[in-house]
Amino acid sequence: MAEPAYTVLARKYRPAKFADLVGQPHVVKALSNAITTNRVAQAFLLTGSRGTGKTSTARILACALNCMERKEGQFEPCGKCASCRDIARSEDLDVVEMDAASNSRVDDVRERLESVDTRPARGRYRLFIIDEVHMLSTSAFNALLKTIEEPPPHVKFILATTNPEKIPETILSRCQRYDFRRVTLSEIVDWLDNICRIEDVQPGDGVLRAVAEMAEGGMRDALGRLDQLIAFSGVKPSLEEAERVFGLVGRAKLLELLESLSRGDARAAVLFAEEVFDSGKDVAEVLASLVSLARTLLLVAAGGGDDRGIDVPANELPKLKEVAGTYGIHGLVYLAELLTDCRQRVRRAAFPRVLVETTLVKLSMVGRLESLETLLARLDDVADAPVSIASNIDHSAETQPASEKPKPAQNAPASDSGNRPLSEREKNALDALKRQFGVS
Ligand SMILES: Nc1ncnc2c1ncn2[C@@H]1O[C@H](COP(=O)(O)OP(=O)(O)O)[C@@H](O)[C@H]1O
Ligand SMILES: [Mg+2]
Ligand SMILES: [Zn+2]
Repeated sequence: MAEPAYTVLARKYRPAKFADLVGQPHVVKALSNAITTNRVAQAFLLTGSRGTGKTSTARILACALNCMERKEGQFEPCGKCASCRDIARSEDLDVVEMDAASNSRVDDVRERLESVDTRPARGRYRLFIIDEVHMLSTSAFNALLKTIEEPPPHVKFILATTNPEKIPETILSRCQRYDFRRVTLSEIVDWLDNICRIEDVQPGDGVLRAVAEMAEGGMRDALGRLDQLIAFSGVKPSLEEAERVFGLVGRAKLLELLESLSRGDARAAVLFAEEVFDSGKDVAEVLASLVSLARTLLLVAAGGGDDRGIDVPANELPKLKEVAGTYGIHGLVYLAELLTDCRQRVRRAAFPRVLVETTLVKLSMVGRLESLETLLARLDDVADAPVSIASNIDHSAETQPASEKPKPAQNAPASDSGNRPLSEREKNALDALKRQFGVS
């Protein structure tokens, strides 16, 4: 007998009512109010990054609007009536679903919109769901605009997109917009935990957290990774297995690296790069983990002892504080910037290993870099110092110990070794720098 087909978790656990949506309470509240008070817009635009619940919400909203069992004052679809069931299967006559990613031409839109004037067959409304709507061609947008401007009263549009900035203003202004946020780490972990219980999966300590971290706020991605892990390791995946499957480096190890770098240990940088490349880890994934760790360190440093909103296991906190303290807030900003930049470039880099090595070595020098304030203060000193009239007589050696002499003066030719007044351009540049960094 054939085994029953496996349904991927993301599909099996697609939210069917508003209450099932994780991490979007603001959207749920606004939509449920609109439904219960019967103030339903002509067009909705659901925006947000991928896997946060836009398409699911479009269907739930369609169900709710056309549910045959929903009573006055309620907002959840019943999920059982013929209308709810057909919509969930994408087979309802009153709901026209269109994926603009594969149907972006004007004829595709015209064809779908042909039926706008027909009365709904069964439900209250004829609903047009256009997913990934930003993919429509210009002429397709124009065709859509004509209908969205003055739709018949029985027609509603539900548009969804990851790229609202690509949608013409004329369309945007006709829509009520709902922004989906990235789901937080702990919300994802809780939801995965919930699913594991139902599925009889027993992940080891830290597994769900590692999976959730990689998803960066996208629930579909998190569920996809959990599927992958179960396929690979069975129903009791350990953290080591998860790290192996996804080519990750464990958090403890990453923290250890950042700690060594903060002490100026350039060797640690090279050794780490060697390990990542030689053991076939996914370097982009490792950099993503490092960026996320850098961000946590920044939060720790910026929080100044207030640990609220810092989403890490309690036993990691002391170490995080120590490392954050060594870098200092300036160092951490630099760290986060360099790592983010490296992560963005690494996939396309001709020599990714060199890029990673140089980035990490640079990070090992952060401790020896002076803060911008110090540098500016020193520039300031130069600007304010008295101007020597006879520039060939070197007074500067008397007014300043050699070690504190600013670099440019040191390198300047002997005849110009005194302090000269800053040019207008230099002064402006200095002022601009100070303004930018809030130094007075
Ligand atoms: N907010 C959420 N709450 C619960 N599950 C979600 C959420 N967002 C996404 N998912 C999961 O991911 C799958 C795909 O979600 P979908 O609504 O298609 O995302 P989007 O359209 O924003 O890319 C769903 O079937 C569900 O399993
Ligand atoms: Mg979608
Ligand atoms: Zn129903």
